[in-house]
Amino acid sequence: MRELLYRSLPHFADFDPSDLAILRASLRNNARAGITGYLIRASGQFFQALHGPAEAIGALVARLDDDPRHRGLEILIDRETEAPSPFEDWSMGYDHFLPLEAGLDFTETGARPVLSEAEAGLAWDRLVAAARSQGEFGSVFPYARLPGEEAEPYLARIADAL
Ligand SMILES: Cc1cc2nc3c(=O)[nH]c(=O)nc-3n(C[C@H](O)[C@H](O)[C@H](O)COP(=O)(O)O)c2cc1C
Repeated sequence: MRELLYRSLPHFADFDPSDLAILRASLRNNARAGITGYLIRASGQFFQALHGPAEAIGALVARLDDDPRHRGLEILIDRETEAPSPFEDWSMGYDHFLPLEAGLDFTETGARPVLSEAEAGLAWDRLVAAARSQGEFGSVFPYARLPGEEAEPYLARIADAL
């Protein structure tokens, strides 16, 4: 299996309903491809963690590279793993403003901070921790996928929130 973390710059502002279409395609395609993961908006950026078969992840990255809804895609982690997905069976979850921001904010010149391998690893761990603790955040973060929540009810709830 392959694990990938990237960051990119959203074309649309935070809370834009275009994220719903991203989520819809992700849930459908990833379930088919055996990919799981989590997409968040934090610090004015997208961060997406993905876990799945190497070829399927490669095909997805090729599509992501061409997607005009974001730009400046930068891969922070790309590694093989034997471990099961930390995202369990979520073909995708989504959230805003999780407590992930530390060290990921734009610098004073408007650039993205350069991340060391260790810092990228920390960002992955934080994203995983955030995804897995949604039971605690559910009422405060209406976008978060809740433990055990199926794809369709989740999509319907997000559609109401965005
Ligand atoms: C930030 C971001 C994250 C995305 N994540 C996924 C994803 O996890 N899976 C996926 O299939 N498409 C994802 N997409 C959409 C793809 O770029 C592409 O539009 C889509 O896979 C095309 O699928 P379709 O032909 O079924 O519409 C994402 C797009 C953006 C901008």
